[in-house]
Amino acid sequence: MLSNAEIGIDLGTANILVYSKNKGIIMNEPSVVALDVNTRKVLAVGTDAKNMIGKTPGNIVAVRPLKDGVIADFDVTTEMLKHIMAAISKKLGFSLRKPSVVVCTPSGATSVERRAIHDAVKSSGAKHVHLIEEPVAAAIGADLPVGEPVANVVVDIGGGTTEVAIISYGGVVSCSTIRVAGDKMDDDIIHYIRKSYNLLIGERTAERIKIEIGHAPIEHKTMEMDIRGRDLVTGLPKTIVLNSTEIQHAIQESLLSILEAIRATLENCPPELSGDIVDRGVVLTGGGALLNGVQQWLSEEIVVPVHLAPNPLESVAIGTGKSLTVIHKLQKAMK
Ligand SMILES: Nc1ncnc2c1ncn2[C@@H]1O[C@H](COP(=O)(O)OP(=O)(O)OP(=O)(O)O)[C@@H](O)[C@H]1O
Ligand SMILES: [Mg+2]
Repeated sequence: MLSNAEIGIDLGTANILVYSKNKGIIMNEPSVVALDVNTRKVLAVGTDAKNMIGKTPGNIVAVRPLKDGVIADFDVTTEMLKHIMAAISKKLGFSLRKPSVVVCTPSGATSVERRAIHDAVKSSGAKHVHLIEEPVAAAIGADLPVGEPVANVVVDIGGGTTEVAIISYGGVVSCSTIRVAGDKMDDDIIHYIRKSYNLLIGERTAERIKIEIGHAPIEHKTMEMDIRGRDLVTGLPKTIVLNSTEIQHAIQESLLSILEAIRATLENCPPELSGDIVDRGVVLTGGGALLNGVQQWLSEEIVVPVHLAPNPLESVAIGTGKSLTVIHKLQKAMK
């Protein structure tokens, strides 16, 4: 049995997580790499690199090689994967010799990129490499009975993409992907603050604003937050007070695009499965599912129950790690 050495990697555009069957989540780092511009050498990966974003001297850049749901910089992604594989081998010791690895790739990855991710993981020491679709992994990680002939609806709101999928009997019945998710909301906030206050803020600040006072378009108690940035007129640092209602408006359009994608997928659902959805509802995964008020707002809009997965940020990684077992079971069941 290979069971000791089965690991799953969620190669997300915002976060990379590694799940081992025995130890659970063994790594959870932002998908950021710090590079020396001149030599292209990787200096840091993960949290260390994320802390450098927007703060590095000229010869060092902190990049997100998977930004926008696609692999923006392939060589750096491969380098990052190698670092990660080395780090987890260290953590797990010898048990990781020749592991079976399941990788969940960004949905925008082309077949050439998928092949190359496969090869990069393989060259870092894996015995078998399987690639899995993100919504299927999310559904397995959220403990949905994907192998049964019932409609399992997953909405995964990540950093780069939102994926909506209906899964039944181990396969995707209908699905849609849009490049609107957490990163887009951060951009919305940056634009809003620039336009309304002539203030320039960085992406990390925008993300903090979204997490703290961002809200889905439903009534809520107004929250406030102090923000620092650079005044575009004077060029000097400046502090302003933001409230949750203005941020709610700033990100509303992105949320409506997500709602549209969900509606469109549900409308494409075969009628036999529609009945299941009314009873069983929809499960939210991905970091974007943690935005204040999202669960309530969606359940009011689509009028079916909306559940939050137990660990939305970890669902895909857990599902990726567990998928090998599920795949074996499904294959057996189909024989
Ligand atoms: N509490 C929160 N409220 C709102 N957004 C959040 C919260 N926590 C995390 N996020 C957002 O969730 C996103 C990251 O989610 P996740 O880790 O699921 O993405 P990913 O899997 O890396 O991306 P993708 O699936 O698109 O490749 C980021 O945009 C982050 O800002
Ligand atoms: Mg993801």
